[in-house]
Amino acid sequence: MAHEPIIKVAAISGSLRKASIHHGLIRSAIDLTTDSIDGMSIEHIDISSLPMLNTDLEIDDEFPPEVETFRQKILHSDCFLFASPEYNYTVTAPLKNAIDWASRLPMCGQIKLLLLSVQAAVLVEDCRNPARFDDDGNLVDDEAKEMLKSVLLALKAFTLRLQGSK
Ligand SMILES: Cc1cc2nc3c(=O)[nH]c(=O)nc-3n(C[C@H](O)[C@H](O)[C@H](O)COP(=O)(O)O)c2cc1C
Repeated sequence: MAHEPIIKVAAISGSLRKASIHHGLIRSAIDLTTDSIDGMSIEHIDISSLPMLNTDLEIDDEFPPEVETFRQKILHSDCFLFASPEYNYTVTAPLKNAIDWASRLPMCGQIKLLLLSVQAAVLVEDCRNPARFDDDGNLVDDEAKEMLKSVLLALKAFTLRLQGSK
């Protein structure tokens, strides 16, 4: 029996806090996908070890090892899921820093897609209400989990459309 191709999602949290509710949203997205969404797998890409962007760190066309590892994960993903706090009316500095590292040449289709995703980012404001999380940042609210599942199904449908599979 033919298996549905697996869409690989790179999930990036804009927070560096251990008990971040945005890490919690990503953990919940991983659980929801594993339990009830076929044909999709989510990996949380840790951006905490990326140095601040400085093109002096690109030596002989090579990136620092942490940056290279991050870029490879982006290259091998089909789509992106961002969960970021708002810091002073915009995404956080760590998320912007990660996007800037991803955007360095040579760019590939995935990195262009990542930049497009940033422009098309949807804020699921209700999902991020701190009251829906416990003290460790775990999402514990069923209504918010349903909202998150709708976002994941929409991301899957959008990615399949872009890939021309459906
Ligand atoms: C420097 C800084 C700036 C912030 N700016 C905003 C803001 O502009 N709007 C807002 O709603 N919350 C703002 N916040 C609150 C964070 O978005 C909030 O604490 C968030 O839930 C933290 O997410 P985390 O649990 O994933 O770390 C700010 C917090 C910090 C530390």
